[in-house]
Amino acid sequence: MYALNTLAGRVAFITGGATGIGLEIATQYTRLGAAVVLASRNQEKLDAAVETLSKAGGKAAAYRMDVRDPDEVAAAIAFTTERFGALDILVNNAAGNFPCATATLSPNGWRTVIDIDLNGTFYCCRAAYEALKVSRFGGSIISIITMNGVTGWPNAAHAAAAKAGILSLSRTLAVEWGGDGIRVNTISPGPIGDTEGVQRMYQDTGKAELERKRVALGRFGQRADIANAAVFLGSDLSNYVTGDNLIVDGGRWLKYVAA
Ligand code: HXC
Ligand code: NAP
Repeated sequence: MYALNTLAGRVAFITGGATGIGLEIATQYTRLGAAVVLASRNQEKLDAAVETLSKAGGKAAAYRMDVRDPDEVAAAIAFTTERFGALDILVNNAAGNFPCATATLSPNGWRTVIDIDLNGTFYCCRAAYEALKVSRFGGSIISIITMNGVTGWPNAAHAAAAKAGILSLSRTLAVEWGGDGIRVNTISPGPIGDTEGVQRMYQDTGKAELERKRVALGRFGQRADIANAAVFLGSDLSNYVTGDNLIVDGGRWLKYVAA
């Protein structure tokens, strides 16, 4: 278990932080001493998440925005530094996805997912740069991707291409911004049970059992598995780690490639 002061004094901005994996990261971050700003489109979900985190003693605030709008992203980052005085950790977690054969995927369907995942991540990194540069801890950017972006993802070409783009962007920024003390890493979760992602891609399509069998460990992961990795990458424990892609997938991608 992490020491309860692992993230003490840090401020984190988490896109899509009101649900699923993002909310679990926010929960762990506040428990370990960070203040968090949750940013996404749905005000009701944001309010409910902030209430839950606050009741547990965490410092949390919400900002309603769409990551596809660079002006809204910039305003959300400004809100964060005004509210909590700094920005130390950016977590690019927001994403959109739906299963669709590429032959029938509309240009707008493609554009929508690329806009949310890849363009949204760029807007957040760009808007957060100046604040992360002056972080007293050294800034940390963490983007949630998937190894399906590396292997290819039949029936989710839009998401696979977007996540591959985020991996490339992150490695570029790790070098460009390393001199500013900003570390830039990605996390690649495997299928995480009880999330919207697994519901859409595997439960709703009747492929959950097949997907479980593709995992070397033979089971779906838990949201806490990803939050633990995000704590590591947001803290001093990973001070010399940048440009990395931390795979937290139960061996899913190796078994998939090998099988
Ligand atoms: C085909 C679809 C579609 C579907 C939407 N589209 N759903 N095409 N099959 N199931 C098309 C629409 O027809 C439209 O194109 C275009 O996509 C945009 O759709 P909108 O509904 O207008 O977009 P919007 O309201 O902006 O919503 C974005 C969204 C939505 C991505 C479509 O589902 C959303 O908000 N998702 C957020 C939640 C989410 O996706 N969670 C899972 C993320 S995690 P046309 O041409 O008709 O205009 C994840 C990782 C899983 O996926 C990993 C598992 C291992
Ligand atoms: P989720 O609960 O649906 O999370 C997606 C979040 O993104 C939601 O909170 C949503 O909030 C927000 N969002 C979507 N579109 C947005 C937009 N345009 N602007 C701002 N926020 C937006 O899904 P999840 O399964 O926890 O996934 C979280 C992350 O993990 C994603 O990056 C996903 O690709 C990645 N991942 C998940 C799995 C898995 O097994 N679940 C596996 C690999 C990778 P609003 O609706 O309020 O906007």
